[in-house]
Amino acid sequence: MLHVRAIDTCYGASQALFGVSLEVGDGEVVTLLGRNGMGKSTTIKSIIGLTPPRTGAIFFDGRAIEQLESHRIARMGVGLVPEGRQIFPNLTVVENLVATAANHRRVDTPFTLKEIFELFPRLAERRRHYGNELSGGEQQMLAIGRALMINPRLLLLDEATEGLAPLIRREIWRAWASSRTRGWRSW
Ligand SMILES: Nc1ncnc2c1ncn2[C@@H]1O[C@H](COP(=O)(O)OP(=O)(O)OP(=O)(O)O)[C@@H](O)[C@H]1O
Ligand SMILES: [Mg+2]
Repeated sequence: MLHVRAIDTCYGASQALFGVSLEVGDGEVVTLLGRNGMGKSTTIKSIIGLTPPRTGAIFFDGRAIEQLESHRIARMGVGLVPEGRQIFPNLTVVENLVATAANHRRVDTPFTLKEIFELFPRLAERRRHYGNELSGGEQQMLAIGRALMINPRLLLLDEATEGLAPLIRREIWRAWASSRTRGWRSW
């Protein structure tokens, strides 16, 4: 589904990625490990088009995407849970979930608000709260819910549970695993 081939990515004159290659197959989970500053986030940002690679190629479902703008890549079915969550602070939980929701791939049973609230009951309790009124864990759940609402084929998670309490981590991985099973049934 995803082929990253020998990409070099730079920030101005400073090169962060040197010939990174990886593959993700249909239904597969791939984990990228590395010390701080090794280029995990840059790899993710290169795939989604935020920091396009200078050389190398990226194929998603066989189509070259390394020169596409990030909103086009997202429309093809790549969801992002970014480092630092990037929740809209002045939108409510519900507004955060629906602001970018879409079904561009026309899947038969797209995610609904109800399903996201079933996955993350804490979000349901806080549905009218603004993004900047949420705890870190709640923001993380919201970032995952928001990414699911674009009905992605591929979900990129950058440090999905960083800095969160063990119980919250468990809740997030449980919800993520159950959304993944659902994905397999309906996509
Ligand atoms: N906006 C930027 N401008 C310049 N250099 C950057 C920028 N963002 C990251 N870098 C540099 O690129 C390299 C890779 O950073 P990146 O954020 O991809 O690492 P990471 O593996 O995600 O680290 P962490 O585990 O700390 O999140 C680092 O040397 C970093 O200093
Ligand atoms: Mg990072």
